[in-house]
Amino acid sequence: MKKRVTKAVFPVAGLGTRFLPATKSVPKEIMTLVDRPLIQYAIDEARAAGIKEFIFVTARGKSALEDYFDLAPELESKLRKDGKDELLEILKTTNMDSGAIAYIRQHKALGLGHAVWCARRLIGDEPFAVMLPDDVIAAEKPCLQQMVEAHAETGGCMVAAMEVPGSKVSSYGVLDIEEDMGSIVKIKGMVEKPPVHEAPSNLAVIGRYILTPNILKNLNSIKPSAGGELQLTDAIAAETAQGNNVFGYRFRGERFDCGSKAGFLQATVSFGLARPELCEEFGQYLHDMVAMRNAAQ
Ligand code: UTP
Repeated sequence: MKKRVTKAVFPVAGLGTRFLPATKSVPKEIMTLVDRPLIQYAIDEARAAGIKEFIFVTARGKSALEDYFDLAPELESKLRKDGKDELLEILKTTNMDSGAIAYIRQHKALGLGHAVWCARRLIGDEPFAVMLPDDVIAAEKPCLQQMVEAHAETGGCMVAAMEVPGSKVSSYGVLDIEEDMGSIVKIKGMVEKPPVHEAPSNLAVIGRYILTPNILKNLNSIKPSAGGELQLTDAIAAETAQGNNVFGYRFRGERFDCGSKAGFLQATVSFGLARPELCEEFGQYLHDMVAMRNAAQ
């Protein structure tokens, strides 16, 4: 019988250099999209997918992230006393069950593959999810939930995938397709950040994965590649080389790359407009701004 996916790894040990100087003291994952830190969107998505254990791979300077998931008794009692029940409920979404959350350190930022490998003892011998909180996905059914459902049928490893323009493939891990079955794609290989003429397709991997524990063995033996880092992509590609099943999953939803400034700003606009309490005022502002820009041109 296939094991259910109940553990998720959140690699959050990266340096976040694209957001310097902010990330000098604020972890990227704590940066705020409308009114919630990026990590909260990932946690909510994981919970919706049935994840029960949350494993964070952190680093120096990320203590704000650990504090975020701690209890805030003074704040809670003040809100309760003031009858601010709605805010109290929002605050409670940041509480984690005792023992459900674990932190492990990646002492050097040696790459995403290395970050996942650091969590090997907490993962054990079962399939697990990996979620990159800087990929925020707006979807009717949360992306990881879609994947967990598809994975229950396929087993093996599964990566979230989306079509990108040719000019962008060199920024992503790219899938080498064996069989395209629509939302599920069986793959025969993966290349990290290929030059456009070497890209096997334009189907790119984004930050949601369901992986088998065999990946941890592969991570033991791969060598640093693109950017001198230990790439998770290479460990997944090793699965296909060993004849194990790896699937791409074309998720339904819109992905925002909140690890880049442009992506973060786009997400802010989109998530801001999606909020009933903001859409009118914010929408009007954007409308006026566009009109002014057009008039000035
Ligand atoms: P990125 O490639 O976006 O790197 O990592 P980064 O350091 O966060 O940001 P920039 O490029 O310097 O601006 C993708 C994900 O992998 C994690 C990051 O925290 C992020 O969630 N990561 C990356 C690690 O946990 N450890 C690493 O060694 C590298």
